[in-house]
Amino acid sequence: MDIRITLSQNKKEKYTDESTLGFGKIFTDHMFEVSYNTEKGWHDAQIVPYHRLSLDPASSVLHYAQEIFEGLKAYRTDNDEILLFRAKDNCARLNRSAQRLCMPEIDIDFNFNAIKTLVDIERDWVPRSDGSSLYIRPTMIANDEALGVKAASNYLYYIICSPSGAYYKDGLKPINIKVEDKYVRAVRGGTGEAKTGGNYAASIKAGEEAAKQGFSQVLWLDGEEMKYVEEVGAMNMMFVIDNKIVTPKLNGSILPGITRDSVLTIARDMGITVEERRVAVEELIDAGRSGRLTEAFGTGTAAVISPVGMLAYKDEQIIINNRKIGELSMTLYNTLTGIQRGRIKDKFGWITVV
Ligand code: PLP
Ligand code: COI
Repeated sequence: MDIRITLSQNKKEKYTDESTLGFGKIFTDHMFEVSYNTEKGWHDAQIVPYHRLSLDPASSVLHYAQEIFEGLKAYRTDNDEILLFRAKDNCARLNRSAQRLCMPEIDIDFNFNAIKTLVDIERDWVPRSDGSSLYIRPTMIANDEALGVKAASNYLYYIICSPSGAYYKDGLKPINIKVEDKYVRAVRGGTGEAKTGGNYAASIKAGEEAAKQGFSQVLWLDGEEMKYVEEVGAMNMMFVIDNKIVTPKLNGSILPGITRDSVLTIARDMGITVEERRVAVEELIDAGRSGRLTEAFGTGTAAVISPVGMLAYKDEQIIINNRKIGELSMTLYNTLTGIQRGRIKDKFGWITVV
């Protein structure tokens, strides 16, 4: 399927100060869109000026949240090349989310080409300062105009781009995290491993309560026993215990993060022992009390690598590495962002030049 391109005649004013970008607040001049129905399949692919959507008030996504999305980034190198990081992995994960939500899959090469073509058109929007990037948000919504609860027959898939700075306002400064002991995010057999809006809607209440108590995020426990650590709102979690990286294994209820996989691959390549297994919160607290928990950090596309300075569980607070970023977290951050920005050779085949 070809992509029809209509360029904007009315370009937006670009940001002038990259340090004020924030995360996901401004959007570029164009978007990609393609429609689906059961008769025609995917059709009418186009890149058009960024615009509002027109949806019927009965549109299925608005009622039953049949929606999935992705998040990936394009980076500007010191030589003004634009690089995409592991974009095909995002296309593959979108399809896995689509299967879970009974939505139509999109050919990975076609989707990858759509992302690349859009980013090429928007290349002037990719910021250059360290920590900034063009955040890309592919999104699929169900769009039947009917109120029955079933898999829709009509869908819209679109991609928008947002020049962004750090996800957390303090950048690499260690954050405070609350281990959530009241609400859960996902349960066995649920949608935890899909990237679907409903997971995030269900998480907002815990996040708001934690924010009022001064925490940046909550660390979810498993939905059955509230005993094992799962992940944070927008990040997978890693802990350095006895000089090994310990991280919850992919169990069907956490998101299989692409940054998670990248960090584990880099760590193994550096000769660091990695354990993907169940991690009981009590084990973490014990390791914290005895000084064996030396670093903790989250991994995510938006958040990159985000050190954790304090973990609160019930009435106890575990301070990690004196609230300073750990040596291993810093090395992994530098290696990952070095590859993403073309400063370190990409021996894993993760980069595409746009
Ligand atoms: N877990 C959740 C719930 C997320 O929303 C994200 C962000 O995408 C991640 C983990 C990290 O995934 P990735 O590294 O693919 O961005
Ligand atoms: C990402 O890291 O791409 C995400 O999707 C996180 C988002 C929920 C802000």
